[in-house]
Amino acid sequence: MEKNATSVDVSEEEVRSLAQSILTRYGIDFTCYEPKSLRRRIVRLLNLYNFDSIHGLWVRLLKDSSFIHVFMNEVSVGMTSMFRDPIFWKHLKHRLKDDFKNHESLSIWHAGCSTGEEVYSMAILLGEIGLRHKTKALATDINKQAMEEAKNGRYHKIKMIENEANFKQYNIYSDFTKYYVTEGAEATMVDELKNYATYEFHNLITDPVKSTYDLILCRNVMIYFDNPAKVKLLDKFYDALNPGGLFVIGFYDTMLSWINYTKFELVDEEAKIFRKR
Ligand SMILES: C[S@@+](CC[C@H](N)C(=O)[O-])C[C@H]1O[C@@H](n2cnc3c(N)ncnc32)[C@H](O)[C@@H]1O
Repeated sequence: MEKNATSVDVSEEEVRSLAQSILTRYGIDFTCYEPKSLRRRIVRLLNLYNFDSIHGLWVRLLKDSSFIHVFMNEVSVGMTSMFRDPIFWKHLKHRLKDDFKNHESLSIWHAGCSTGEEVYSMAILLGEIGLRHKTKALATDINKQAMEEAKNGRYHKIKMIENEANFKQYNIYSDFTKYYVTEGAEATMVDELKNYATYEFHNLITDPVKSTYDLILCRNVMIYFDNPAKVKLLDKFYDALNPGGLFVIGFYDTMLSWINYTKFELVDEEAKIFRKR
């Protein structure tokens, strides 16, 4: 008999052992995700797919290798919006103008880009300060479905209301509606913004970084990782930055104490912008 999904109970120990099994079976590492938040996401998945126990989920993962992608999409949390934290975007705009206006080219990595709202915000900002045409941008995530949405640049009108409200706080002098066209209930970002970035699957925990960047954004991603994983990832970002390159984390990434200040200088405390020393 099928159990009432909301009654599924999962302990952190079970979550840890599931993560360990997934690592052994698929080489995908969830063992360093913050246990409470991983547990919440797994319970959500159990309910969504009507599993009556975490064991049922494990058997499915064992027998059906395509289900690992469903697992990855469900476990990764993609909450985002354009010009999320408008103050950050205002500060970043000034910083980029100051640091990069005389550069011939600019390379940017959006690490953990989700459905692309951060990427489109950056494309708009760079256009405003005349830097977009010299920028090469890469956007990565482990959630392939989210990245498809990002590539399509198509958002529901309801989401655009939130995006526009953020944009207005960021730049009251400009008109946000020039950046998209609406059709029915959907808004599609204009082509010049869609062409700003390329998208690639990349797991921040396990995959190597192949290039170097002038700016790396990793906002509201590390919040899901445990502390040793954060420290390792910060070293990865340090190595991936060009000299003088900037690195930013999200407003809710409470990790200032994990930053190595001999490697990074905090150049803007409010916006959490760091510079490679
Ligand atoms: C809350 S969204 C952040 C989106 C955007 N950076 C922002 O702040 O608006 C977090 C994203 O991190 C991604 N993520 C989680 N674990 C990851 C990993 N190991 N490697 C790459 N991306 C990951 C999730 O799939 C999700 O899309």
